[in-house]
Amino acid sequence: MASRSDLSLSSHSPTLSFLLFFVCVNATLALAVDYISSSHSLSGNQTITSPGGNFVLGFFQVGEQSPSRHYIGILFKKVSKLTPIWVANRNNPVRDPATSQLKISDDGNLVLLGESDAQVWSTNLTSMASDATVAEILDSGNLILRDWSDPSKLLWQSFDHPTDTWLPGVKFVMNKVTGTGPVLTSWRNSDDPAAGIFSVELDPTGLTQFILLWNRSKQYWSTGTWNGHFFNSVPEMTAYRQDPTVVNVSVEFFSNSTTNYFVYELRGDMITRTIIDISGQLTQLAWVEEAQEWIRFLALPKKQCDVYALCGPFGSCNENGLPFCSCIKGFSEKSPVDWQLGDPRQGCARNSPLQCGKDDRFFAISSTRLPDDPRSLAAASVEECELSCLQNCSCTAYSYDGGCSAWYGDLLNLQELSDGSRRETVYVRLAASDLPMPRRKTRRTLELVVVGAAAALALLASALVLFLRQLGRRELGTDEATEGNLVVFRYGDLQRMTRNFSERLGGGGFGSVFKGTLPDSAPIAVKKLRSLVHQGEKQFRNEVSTLGMIQHVNLVRLRGFCSEGNKRLLVYDYMTNGSLNTHLFSKGSPAMAWMTRYNIAIGTARGLAYLHGQCRDCIIHCDVKPENILLDESFHPKLADFGLAKLVGRDFSKVLTTMRGTVGYLAPEWISGEAITPKADAYSYGMTLLELISGRRNTEQSGEHDPFFPVLAATKLVEGDVLSLLDPRLHGNADITELERACRVACWCIQDDEAHRPSMAQVVQILEGALEVDTPPTPRKLQALLDDSNTKCFSSDSSSGLGSTKALSTSQIESTSLISSEG
Ligand SMILES: *[C@@H]1O[C@H](CO)[C@@H](O)[C@H](O)[C@H]1NC(C)=O
Ligand SMILES: *[C@@H]1O[C@H](CO)[C@@H](O)[C@H](O)[C@H]1NC(C)=O
Ligand SMILES: *[C@@H]1O[C@H](CO)[C@@H](O)[C@H](O)[C@H]1NC(C)=O
Ligand SMILES: *[C@@H]1O[C@H](CO)[C@@H](O)[C@H](O)[C@H]1NC(C)=O
Ligand SMILES: *[C@@H]1O[C@H](CO)[C@@H](O)[C@H](O)[C@H]1NC(C)=O
Ligand SMILES: *[C@@H]1O[C@H](CO)[C@@H](O)[C@H](O)[C@H]1NC(C)=O
Repeated sequence: MASRSDLSLSSHSPTLSFLLFFVCVNATLALAVDYISSSHSLSGNQTITSPGGNFVLGFFQVGEQSPSRHYIGILFKKVSKLTPIWVANRNNPVRDPATSQLKISDDGNLVLLGESDAQVWSTNLTSMASDATVAEILDSGNLILRDWSDPSKLLWQSFDHPTDTWLPGVKFVMNKVTGTGPVLTSWRNSDDPAAGIFSVELDPTGLTQFILLWNRSKQYWSTGTWNGHFFNSVPEMTAYRQDPTVVNVSVEFFSNSTTNYFVYELRGDMITRTIIDISGQLTQLAWVEEAQEWIRFLALPKKQCDVYALCGPFGSCNENGLPFCSCIKGFSEKSPVDWQLGDPRQGCARNSPLQCGKDDRFFAISSTRLPDDPRSLAAASVEECELSCLQNCSCTAYSYDGGCSAWYGDLLNLQELSDGSRRETVYVRLAASDLPMPRRKTRRTLELVVVGAAAALALLASALVLFLRQLGRRELGTDEATEGNLVVFRYGDLQRMTRNFSERLGGGGFGSVFKGTLPDSAPIAVKKLRSLVHQGEKQFRNEVSTLGMIQHVNLVRLRGFCSEGNKRLLVYDYMTNGSLNTHLFSKGSPAMAWMTRYNIAIGTARGLAYLHGQCRDCIIHCDVKPENILLDESFHPKLADFGLAKLVGRDFSKVLTTMRGTVGYLAPEWISGEAITPKADAYSYGMTLLELISGRRNTEQSGEHDPFFPVLAATKLVEGDVLSLLDPRLHGNADITELERACRVACWCIQDDEAHRPSMAQVVQILEGALEVDTPPTPRKLQALLDDSNTKCFSSDSSSGLGSTKALSTSQIESTSLISSEG
């Protein structure tokens, strides 16, 4: 049985270095006194700690830049991962802490002196009442400067000058008279605390809401005003509050004639923080000791792509991709180093300069969102619109939908299609050399020749095919290696086969997938693993060859891989019908018949059962969701992305927590930090099965008071009304026995206690009808959501059905047998 240790969840971000970490742990290195005064300055690896030991102040370093950059900051002391909550000199690092010092200057200010005593940072107070001051760090995380003799005389506090973090218990104050308050500003990138481009503040117009700004000026999102219970655009705040197993946050608002403030508190002893993160989301995170990770439980705006200009000029955002950003055709990352560090804002640069004449062409891209700031041109047709744009070299794109819109200069906020959304076509200007010439002409000549001399050509053609095959093989490399039953590809070959990774099929937590064609014209899917995989070549090959031995009709076959330098790619069979989510949730696609769905349910369960038990080592998939269930030409399901958790290894938890799309499928033990077993897959499978039945996302709400779908499912199952759960597009056309079985299995799978969930092998048996199951109890965690005061969500008849489940005591649930009889 694999356990948590297989996943090596304890991880520190590789880019953080731990100069200070040892200091934090070893208290003997701290200053003899826990304050800074005219006679005690702080330098090198010295620190001062808050009285209760919550926070520590000292020098720290992030990343491995050269020359190294050091900062004075406040860090969590009880968190084993270096986490600065405040940085004094975020824009002015010092080279060497040993030659720098944080001290009380002659005029009483707290100052940071760098090399040759140059002042790097200061509290900058001008009219000091006293030069006898002392700086201390409090257990709230506040660094204060006060009068030495009078503790009540607060001269300066770090809470008034936050960097990117808002801690619980801290008042976020708006001075109504001046319209000013603190501003949180994101880090520039994950290695650099310098002020980035996103910020959050209280609305200076006096509305009781937080606003998110790009470049300090462009507002791209707001929380909506406070209504006494939650911010109007964040109704889920109440759900978080009422789900006692997640995080106990409560927000309070205070207002008098001069001041407004918000403060949030935690109940329980969880460590949390709120930041504006480098990708522009206001994010709440909780420290999960068992996972040694910060887990995000709220990120706003909910859609990453709603962040303004996230992907920079000529970048395109894809909500389902990871990374979210990519460059549009004809463009490449302007600064790959910054992209690596999670900062794509410089965007993309043209591969070839524009010719600014008739040689430029337009390439059509679909976007769910038109770029900002279009200008209208007078044009009566697409052709005229194109011509007007072509005539002015600074016109970079146009769009025509009855009227002609054109864009000049950089294109911002392009967004790739996501499920079921409206599409707009934007024609982007490219140099002719970045676009292949239309092929039509050559094909037509070939056709003519075929008609003219078919017989002769047939011979010639077969010779040609043979020749091309051979050529193809040579192209692939005569030294084409195999390892086990896997082909070892060269990067250059994969680049060619995928036409320089031009056709992106999708993305997942582990990287983007591109379509390619082998020289024998077999289609393939090439997965570029995210470069956060810092793994040795040998270990990678070992893991991959293990994966290569896993073969099952319901698992996508791994054909080969590539490992060159820091590039890691996997080559899979291509699946004609794409992933399940597109068929289930896209508005345009025809509804899948019940029989198809049931077969997908069984096949997926078989694939998982094989991974869990029948192959040599047990493999936990860890990311079962419709996106990872691929369909071949006959709609047979094949699971993708299995075994990657191990490949990505220590960074896996990071991948998971940044995968917003996946959260709805994660078993509660991921959050609570218990060991992960194959039953975590059973949970995600259950969530997926519900979506397969209903044809909608569990998280999707059709109305404001619509209950969470899994809750509804559990309720209807008790009532015996499973037909109402079926995708309405099927109009009740389903085998009712199968439907009921599927609903039961799904509800058993999503039980909170993994002991109550069936194994995947049992799931297969149940779906095949070889095993009978009882009606499951409503999962406790879901029940908690139901029990909240907001009972108006549920009509009276459904609550009567619920009553019967509620009546089950814990011991009854414990003794409720999952399997009642074997068939
Ligand atoms: C802290 O600094 C002192 C003096 O510079 C040095 O001797 C000691 O090794 C340092 N400790 C650590 C843990 O770096
Ligand atoms: C302090 O004042 C100086 C000069 O007025 C200014 O350059 C510096 O940015 C200020 N520092 C801070 C931390 O406000
Ligand atoms: C941000 O705003 C400043 C002026 O406030 C401007 O000079 C700068 O170019 C802007 N940055 C970007 C990336 O547009
Ligand atoms: C408003 O509240 C603030 C913070 O509690 C307080 O400092 C201030 O004196 C109050 N103002 C008035 C006019 O009551
Ligand atoms: C959250 O708060 C409620 C009420 O104060 C309490 O009953 C519950 O145990 C708390 N949950 C956690 C996880 O601390
Ligand atoms: C091209 O368009 C820009 C922006 O509208 C305008 O300033 C410029 O004068 C135009 N150039 C020509 C040659 O029309």
